[in-house]
Amino acid sequence: MRKIALIGCMGSGKSTVASELGDAFDVDAEFERRYGGIPEFFATRGETAFREAEEKLLAEAAKSNARVIACGGGSVLSRRGMAALRAASDIVFIDTPKELCERRVRGSDRPLAKNFSCVYEERLPLYKRYADYTANGTKSAREIAAEIANAVKTPRGIRYDVVLCDADDTVLDFGRAMRFAISTAAAEMGVKADAARVIEEYGKILPVVWGRLERGEIDRTELSATRFTMLADALGEKFSPSECNDAYMRAIKTTRFVLDGALEFMDGVRRRGAKLYIITNSYKSVASERLKALYGHADGFFVSEDIGYDKPDRRFFERVHACIGSPDIARTIVFGDGVFPDMHGGAVFGADTCLFDPSGKKSTPDALYAVRGYSEFAEIL
Ligand code: S3P
Repeated sequence: MRKIALIGCMGSGKSTVASELGDAFDVDAEFERRYGGIPEFFATRGETAFREAEEKLLAEAAKSNARVIACGGGSVLSRRGMAALRAASDIVFIDTPKELCERRVRGSDRPLAKNFSCVYEERLPLYKRYADYTANGTKSAREIAAEIANAVKTPRGIRYDVVLCDADDTVLDFGRAMRFAISTAAAEMGVKADAARVIEEYGKILPVVWGRLERGEIDRTELSATRFTMLADALGEKFSPSECNDAYMRAIKTTRFVLDGALEFMDGVRRRGAKLYIITNSYKSVASERLKALYGHADGFFVSEDIGYDKPDRRFFERVHACIGSPDIARTIVFGDGVFPDMHGGAVFGADTCLFDPSGKKSTPDALYAVRGYSEFAEIL
């Protein structure tokens, strides 16, 4: 059985149901063990400090060996906390009527109990949004636990209807394409340095010039013009940068290198019912050829030169979003290896973000999730 996280309003029965289900990580109880009473903490340190500590505990609970997690009623306020839970568990909403919850919390020392009605109304849409399963909270704790144990035997539905998936180094093998193209172009230009040196130097120039493009400092024409001027300088050789650019473009267009498991991954996402669109910062002429490797495995392709803006520009994401029929952004996720173009762009646009980082070395506050492989992404979806 997968790990289960119970969410719901204060008084909905999360802690009692959790102990019926087995050894549980009770987030409120753990909080009190570490920091003392919750009412005192609210009074002295305030709600913001409470939420920060709660978010850390949610991540710990997600990583712990406990099979069941009883969350605090306000856990759903933390997007990051909920992402940690989603990555590790199925989420069950205990849907207990407002009056019953209210009766149970009346007279308790919970800091937000006085404001119960507002809190309940504000949170209800969040509980519903995060619920993989919903249990009827009017029954006894034992009955609710049995209902949950039974429900989670059926695979949950998907959490995201739309995956905006980057191409290069997410599903296409850009490194291999680049190495082939730059060695071919260098040979055509009669460059004397050996292929390994050319690849090394060009590999250093690439992130610099694409970074400038992503920050809006240069446009695509300048990118074409400067990258091979920089290469000639780095190698200390003379060749025409524009001819080298043409040769590079001709060569890279012919590449169709797909990362291992990428097509199966894309097919799997779509089989589960999500739409998958490729979003790439690229030249039209290059992308139209290279993306053929992914034909039949995506619901659509968006190339920045066509769109008129490059990732991470918010307008890139807005145009794509409009083109695909304006789906619910809360159920849209951006998946890619690019910290700035994909993660920052996705975050600014307001979608959830998942960093594809096989090396496990990247880190960015803009990524809500980080995975090292496609199968981990499937767990989140
Ligand atoms: C809270 C709910 C409480 C506790 C804290 C804040 C909330 O948990 O975390 O008092 O914001 O709804 P329970 O839902 O377990 O009462």
